[in-house]
Amino acid sequence: ALQKQFGTPLSGKKIVISAGGTKERIDPVRYISNDSSGKMGYALARAASILGAKVILISTVTNLPIPHGVKHHLVETAQELQSIITQNFKEADIVIMAAAVSDFRVDHPAKQKIKKEANTNQLTLSLIKNQDILAYLGEHKTKEQLIVGFAAETNDVMKHATSKLTRKKADIIIANDVSDQSIGFNSNENKVTMLYANGEKIHFQQQSKESLALKIMLQIVKY
Ligand code: CTP
Ligand code: CA
Repeated sequence: ALQKQFGTPLSGKKIVISAGGTKERIDPVRYISNDSSGKMGYALARAASILGAKVILISTVTNLPIPHGVKHHLVETAQELQSIITQNFKEADIVIMAAAVSDFRVDHPAKQKIKKEANTNQLTLSLIKNQDILAYLGEHKTKEQLIVGFAAETNDVMKHATSKLTRKKADIIIANDVSDQSIGFNSNENKVTMLYANGEKIHFQQQSKESLALKIMLQIVKY
């Protein structure tokens, strides 16, 4: 039905989309992660596929079905995600970074389970920064490639999102306020603003992630 309404304006385009929250191992049975459900990224992958694009979805483990016709790569860590993205970047017309990428990883993950009795009252984890994948893509994109990022913020949403747009050299940042529990991370609905590098802004009111994904993809078609 959607295809009848909108056609397949993205046919011939290759779109790489990342989704979900990456995990950073502490030891074989423990990790550091975040609340991302992957819903927004999966909805974008589905919308892009309906609109005719060849979609590569790179995600961490979720409980969501892989959208029809989409090629899926399962990853766990930020470094694994980065490696698959880099492998697919050159061929991509559009990359959308919807994944919540861990900013830091454990410096030296333990090869065996960390034992409580081997430690005193305190256990210190040393973390080192992961590479910023979106900033890498922004730095290395060609003029023909479109790079889209997200900015999930709890405060000063527009200010932080605008700074991410310039700092990471993205073409579009999709900003959302995750301080509101009814939207953003893990919820079924979202409310976002698309910020373009030329200063243009498009606001979308709160709605299901499926419906928002289609509207975002149609804006990308226009762009
Ligand atoms: N991102 C990325 N690689 C990272 C961290 C983030 O590609 N190592 C991407 C995310 O996928 C998202 C965008 O950058 O598209 C913004 O992520 P966010 O966490 O909001 O930005 P940070 O620059 O990490 O800033 P902070 O977490 O301090 O707000
Ligand atoms: Ca971050």
